[in-house]
Amino acid sequence: MEKVAVVTGANRGLGREVAKKLAARGYRVVGTVRDVAAGELMRDRYATEGLAFTPLAVDVTAEDAGARLFAAVPDGVDVVVNNAAVLLDGFDVEVVDRTLAVNWYGAVRVAEALLPALRDGGRLVNVSSGMADEAGLEPALRARLQDEALDRRGIDALMAEFRGSVAAGARSGWPRSAYRVSKVAIDAWTRHLARALAGDPRRLRVNAVCPGWVSTDMGGPAAPRSVEQGAASILWATEVPPDGPSGGFFRDGRPAAW
Ligand SMILES: NC(=O)c1ccc[n+]([C@@H]2O[C@H](COP(=O)([O-])OP(=O)(O)OC[C@H]3O[C@@H](n4cnc5c(N)ncnc54)[C@H](OP(=O)(O)O)[C@@H]3O)[C@@H](O)[C@H]2O)c1
Repeated sequence: MEKVAVVTGANRGLGREVAKKLAARGYRVVGTVRDVAAGELMRDRYATEGLAFTPLAVDVTAEDAGARLFAAVPDGVDVVVNNAAVLLDGFDVEVVDRTLAVNWYGAVRVAEALLPALRDGGRLVNVSSGMADEAGLEPALRARLQDEALDRRGIDALMAEFRGSVAAGARSGWPRSAYRVSKVAIDAWTRHLARALAGDPRRLRVNAVCPGWVSTDMGGPAAPRSVEQGAASILWATEVPPDGPSGGFFRDGRPAAW
């Protein structure tokens, strides 16, 4: 059976490299793009190299994004790379809203839509960041994030609390970075998902990965790592075997501290 992968944010940066490498490994890759014309150009160019790339016009903040993704993989999916994200300047409630819409609610939308479509041994890879390192968080917040009873609704409530504290101009123990908080949420949710799916007969693996500081539009030109190096860190988690780790946070294939 043809191997199928979904990569969000496949038109540039790490997502593009991951999508291309997965296609080279024999996957039919459904890659989300927001610029349809650019996606079609990618499809045609990859086709000349024998690579199967299907562009799918999806904004992960759109209500119908999940339904569109699910419909794009009618025979199921082996690998989902939850990669699309934004890193915005500034720190106010508007930045919090725009960041969480993509990096938290968007990522959840993508994964929850595609989890039912994951085949036996399927892997969900949530692209996180070293900035999500929980060691630097205030102990009370860290304890709440690491509470084993914390589920997606609980994380939603934490995000609402974070937003409320920013709107109120309160300090209240949260980092002053919407991006960092969104990735902390992704990590906590990765742990929750792995626990919740532990008994699933499909033997699904769910992990978070850090690509390192990579020279992309987001990482900027000063970043020490190439797109190929960052993508390799992500691709490692797409190959975790059905009895491999789940619920972990990895960089370059090695466990990283939360
Ligand atoms: N670069 C780094 O140093 C670094 C470090 C740690 C973690 N990461 C993580 O690695 C991942 C990829 O980062 P990158 O450096 O490749 O970023 P990037 O070059 O800025 O690319 C971001 C991708 O996300 C897409 N995207 C943004 N908003 C979207 C939305 N609402 N709906 C659908 N797609 C959307 C973009 O599409 P458009 O072109 O349409 O905007 C683009 O394809 C992210 O999760 C990031 O947090 C990066």
